[in-house]
Amino acid sequence: MCSPHSTCSHPAERSVPRAPRPAPRWLDRSERKRIPALAEFFTENVSTCYISHTELWSGRARDFGHWAPGLRKVIAKELRETFRDRHKRIAVIERNGELAGMAVVVDLGRYALLEDIVIRRTTRGRGVGRTLVRWIFAKLRAAGKASVFLESGGRNTAAHRFFRHQGFRRISISMCRRLAA
Ligand SMILES: CC(C)(COP(=O)(O)OP(=O)(O)OC[C@H]1O[C@@H](n2cnc3c(N)ncnc32)[C@H](O)[C@@H]1OP(=O)(O)O)[C@@H](O)C(=O)NCCC(=O)NCCS
Repeated sequence: MCSPHSTCSHPAERSVPRAPRPAPRWLDRSERKRIPALAEFFTENVSTCYISHTELWSGRARDFGHWAPGLRKVIAKELRETFRDRHKRIAVIERNGELAGMAVVVDLGRYALLEDIVIRRTTRGRGVGRTLVRWIFAKLRAAGKASVFLESGGRNTAAHRFFRHQGFRRISISMCRRLAA
């Protein structure tokens, strides 16, 4: 559930002037020193609408309405693993030397997985997310990938609209049966 302070609506639904778009790039493996800043960026720019079952079992979230208290540390640990994993890459988009967006791309052979795409709250609705995903699509096409998949929290409706806008279509449904009393 969204907290009263989180905003799940998208600035694109309001009138926001478009700014010039910076170019995305892959983070180099030598840029591990940026992990704390990336973890901070992620933590500062996601609301609880983002939480799906993946956030639960990875330890990122306490439940569907609350992030884990140590979210930044959990993300930093995952990013350290991502830097080590040759099947994963981090795409970033920067504006005036400041991080505006990030995404993790997983190589699944014939396919790819798009994970953790996050755009800075104050930069949303200006085409930064579109620039980032289209750049990723181009890279994946050039690498011969047939499709790119993603998974998203059921309540993250603004993101779902964005993904539909970028050509994604729903192909599966996640289900959960609570077992504990
Ligand atoms: C979802 C997210 C990545 C979108 O990035 P963004 O930079 O704000 O989106 P853009 O400004 O590039 O939008 C691109 C297009 O989608 C449209 N769009 C985006 N969100 C929309 C919405 N909620 N409703 C309608 N249209 C939307 C824009 O109008 C724009 O349309 P155009 O191409 O015709 O001009 C961003 O809002 C975000 O970081 N959300 C929080 C993290 C998150 O939930 N990530 C998804 C995890 S699964």
